Amino acid sequence: MGTLFKNGTIVTASEMFEGDVLVEGEIITLIGKNISSRGHEVINCRGKYLMPGGIDVHTHLDLPFGGTYSNDDFDIGHKAAAFGGTTMHIDFVIQPKGGSLHDGLATWREKAKPAQIDYAFHMAVTDLRDDVMNEIPSLVNEGITSLKLFMAYKNVFQVDDATLYKAMQVAAANGMIVMVHAENGDVEEQLRLNLLAEGKTDPIWHYSSRPPEIEGEATNRAVVMAGMTGCPLYVVHMTCEQSVDALRRGRAAGYPVMGETCVQYFHITRDKHLGAPGFEGAKFVCSPPVRNSEHHEVLWRAVKDGTLQVVSTDHCDFWYEGGKGPWQEWAKKHNGGDWVAYEQQNPSYRRPGKELGLGNFSKIPNGLPGIEDRLIVMWHLGVNSGKISPTRFVELNATNPAKIFGMYPRKGTIAVGADADILVWDPKKRHTISVETHHMRCDYNMYEGMKVKGVPVQVYQRGKKLVDGEEWLGKNGDGQYIARKPNAPVL
Ligand code: URP
Ligand code: ZN
Ligand code: ZN
Repeated sequence: MGTLFKNGTIVTASEMFEGDVLVEGEIITLIGKNISSRGHEVINCRGKYLMPGGIDVHTHLDLPFGGTYSNDDFDIGHKAAAFGGTTMHIDFVIQPKGGSLHDGLATWREKAKPAQIDYAFHMAVTDLRDDVMNEIPSLVNEGITSLKLFMAYKNVFQVDDATLYKAMQVAAANGMIVMVHAENGDVEEQLRLNLLAEGKTDPIWHYSSRPPEIEGEATNRAVVMAGMTGCPLYVVHMTCEQSVDALRRGRAAGYPVMGETCVQYFHITRDKHLGAPGFEGAKFVCSPPVRNSEHHEVLWRAVKDGTLQVVSTDHCDFWYEGGKGPWQEWAKKHNGGDWVAYEQQNPSYRRPGKELGLGNFSKIPNGLPGIEDRLIVMWHLGVNSGKISPTRFVELNATNPAKIFGMYPRKGTIAVGADADILVWDPKKRHTISVETHHMRCDYNMYEGMKVKGVPVQVYQRGKKLVDGEEWLGKNGDGQYIARKPNAPVL
């Protein structure tokens, strides 16, 4: 017996059509019209869209960063993702300083044990010694085909240009892709020290320490190196005209370069959000910083004209008021009020958060909650407004991520033979985004009060229903590690 999704509007990256989708076991086995329902469980999808599950290729679950750890882990973060229609993500393993890449991988494998949705790993290289260079080719056998290098976060994750260049050479030779966080960390350090010396300590000054120019400069540097080495490059979380221009120039020159932005960079602003009174702006501190609307428009143009290929989240959430113990309130809401049981089961939930940066913006942990909201906000801001089509929505959020990172056509589309990661999407259903109803382990929501139309009402992963309205049907350990293939296409 299979599951027959009947009379839906099937949306892929290239077309939209009325039809039925038959799932047997974990796989889509038939797509067509009037498929016989005999012997199958039938899901009536009239008036609904059938889309591939979202793939978020940029997340940081349980990341040690900024003097604490990001809140969401491979249990709670996975549930939140699935409630928002994301059925797969790629997280960043961090090479420990002095350690090997495989040391980092072992740590992340352990973190991922409670997985509820499918996942894969990128490898963030922080210390490219000779032995580490030699280790890189073996990552491909582990299904890791992407290296990440930080051009920012001096004295934490930042690498120098020689390291980036060498990483590109070894990646190119092994069919891998290099990802960069592109901001000039040396210049950022100077700007930051000057601001602090002048007593400029509020969250808004985070912006001035990381202006668009340092993002554009670093993007250009990475793009040129990709052209020189022939290494496929993917610039993460692009926010502004300066970096988009650099990428566009590289693509026009025929370099193998691509880029992503994140949903928040279309909507959250420096003036209203980062510049909110008091310490409120800390809720929106991330790097690169959120920009004002002139940059939002540049990003919309870039996703429309194909300069940018992917929209992700860079999900990396921290409590706003970790010091006040919001975890107890959170656990009461999300564990049926059984705070004591929650505390016993989750020893690591007590973490400081944004309050670490009270009186010094540079100590605010960088990162935002978004894994749950990506698809509904993108649909609302992009599709409902007519800026992008439903097919482009699927392409940006699922198909291109799967292609660029070596998982297509198993993931990222509705096609015969693909994994049955399927969203039943109700384009008419309305929802108000709020911390009161979200599932992320975070005491605020950056889109608080946003009224959206269009939500996933049922979410399936490999044929199994994970979400039915507000009901959670997933199980710890059901999420699978997805090994990725090298030599993925440059889009
Ligand atoms: O502010 C951010 N983006 N935090 C997460 C780490 C990173 O730079 O991606
Ligand atoms: Zn980054
Ligand atoms: Zn990130």
